[in-house]
Amino acid sequence: MSLISIDNLDFETVKYLLELANYYEYPYNKKNYENILKGKTLINIFFENSTRTSLSFQKAMLNLGGNYLQYDVSKSSINKGESISDTIKTIENYADIITIRHPENDIFKQFNSNKLVINAGNGTDEHPTQSLSDLLTIYNCNNKDINCINNLNIAIVGDLRYGRTVNSLIKLLLKFNNITFYLISPNELKISNEIKLLITDSNCYYKEDNDYKKYLDAMDVLYMTRLQKERIKNNINLDYYNLSFNDLKNVKKNFIIMHPFPRNNEINLDIDNTKYAKYFLQSKLAVYMRMSIITHFYYKNINTISKL
Ligand code: CP
Repeated sequence: MSLISIDNLDFETVKYLLELANYYEYPYNKKNYENILKGKTLINIFFENSTRTSLSFQKAMLNLGGNYLQYDVSKSSINKGESISDTIKTIENYADIITIRHPENDIFKQFNSNKLVINAGNGTDEHPTQSLSDLLTIYNCNNKDINCINNLNIAIVGDLRYGRTVNSLIKLLLKFNNITFYLISPNELKISNEIKLLITDSNCYYKEDNDYKKYLDAMDVLYMTRLQKERIKNNINLDYYNLSFNDLKNVKKNFIIMHPFPRNNEINLDIDNTKYAKYFLQSKLAVYMRMSIITHFYYKNINTISKL
């Protein structure tokens, strides 16, 4: 069983992944899991750049007693014309767990694997482990009470057309109830109709707009995203969405600002030290969530906590 899309997860699994990540967060549990993946190897196959996803998967593996091998696409035999399918078949000989980031949406249809494969971002489609880390952040900021995720008002702002994290995040939050999504983008960067249909068919709601600041004071979560310049040919500019400290005067007490990062100029640096800024917490918690994902999927639905 692999993790390719949020569609692969039911609510009980999401709940379990949150609880397991929470368990991994506490240092005093370390002795129970520090060798659980001893002798196992993870290889990140990343055809696009990454800081957080690649390093947090490696750190997660080390925390679990496993190891990782580096795969550098620029020095690999892909550049001699080797197919993705042959590459994966070869890497299966060296890895127990394979994570893949690739610019093509349909990359996972191009090969089969007998190893655990985890989607680390496929084109404009999904980034499921990012959204699970995002959910863990929301959970942590709400007293670790899963019921607090229901009824949220969340503004998702920026490039909703080419940004894959937003698709996975919305799909994940649709497993909860009565969430209202404020989908904020310029017209040329609107979210897909497929995602809007999913919201329409759920217990949640959405509103689209070009401007987000008028909604800020009613929001529980602001999820900013950058322009995916690497996927866009037109000269689009999102500078006018820049969030500054002065915009936060009347926000709710428990309001949080998130961003999958990297950021460009969506959020001013003077916000970083406020209690609202949770974007560095997201990358910290990503290690625990990726530990949770790796162990849960590696042991294929065995109750990992009882195994520890
Ligand atoms: N959020 C995210 O995917 O960051 P990286 O591109 O640095 O991995």
